[in-house]
Amino acid sequence: MIQLQQLTVTYPGATQPALLPTSLIFQSGELVGLLGASGAGKSTLLRAINMLIRPTAGQLVVNDQTIKSARSLQQHRRNSAMIFQQHQLLLQQSALQNVLLGRLGYYRSLRSLFPMSKEDKEFALYCLERVGLLDKALERAGRLSGGQQQRVGIARALAQRPKVILADEPVASLDPLASQQMLALLRKLCKEDGITAIVSLHQVVLAKQFAERIVALSAGEVVFDGPLNELDEARLSNIYPQN
Ligand SMILES: Nc1ncnc2c1ncn2[C@@H]1O[C@H](COP(=O)(O)OP(=O)(O)O)[C@@H](O)[C@H]1O
Ligand SMILES: [Mg+2]
Repeated sequence: MIQLQQLTVTYPGATQPALLPTSLIFQSGELVGLLGASGAGKSTLLRAINMLIRPTAGQLVVNDQTIKSARSLQQHRRNSAMIFQQHQLLLQQSALQNVLLGRLGYYRSLRSLFPMSKEDKEFALYCLERVGLLDKALERAGRLSGGQQQRVGIARALAQRPKVILADEPVASLDPLASQQMLALLRKLCKEDGITAIVSLHQVVLAKQFAERIVALSAGEVVFDGPLNELDEARLSNIYPQN
């Protein structure tokens, strides 16, 4: 369980917080769609949950432990995998090498300079198999299609054996069909492994296919939090006022 307690983010030099004091609870295994117009604070929220951005105020509590010490932070980071829009793969490296990067959090920095163990390689191959890319393991990532690269991104996240996946507009650069396929795959894998997923999506229709719960932000504030079926037109116009 992840608890945000009055978590607030104000960027240096900014006059307004990008994330107003926000309290949310995410239960294990929940599939959450994060909605909001551009600039609403979706990326800020996801990064604050992973502590890539240190909150200005408030705290993050994971399984009753406040994430404060370096040790709790390292453990939390290891348990939470990120997937980005620009998949952030090393394009010159093979798909397998990219997936192995997901194991890095398990090593001390010096150890990470040396070849990974056989177990790690086998596990990385298994993760590629789960996203349907075992036959592309040795292909350079740069030679894969956008959809395949995003699936490598999923495999890399899985290789981390995460409890939580935080995905920031993971399908923004994919066409509608590839987007649907990627989200269906992510949904299936998260369900199978009991992974909590918080996924920001730029399209309501995609969120409706993926998520069980929707959290919507507007100007740094949660304006909707509830089950998918409560997201009606009136509430949508609250989230996207210009529509
Ligand atoms: N690194 C940053 N420094 C200063 N302001 C930022 C930074 N990143 C985002 N912002 C501001 O914070 C607000 C929320 O941005 P963001 O979280 O990226 O929204 P979204 O992901 O929903 O588009 C915006 O007003 C944006 O301009
Ligand atoms: Mg964003």
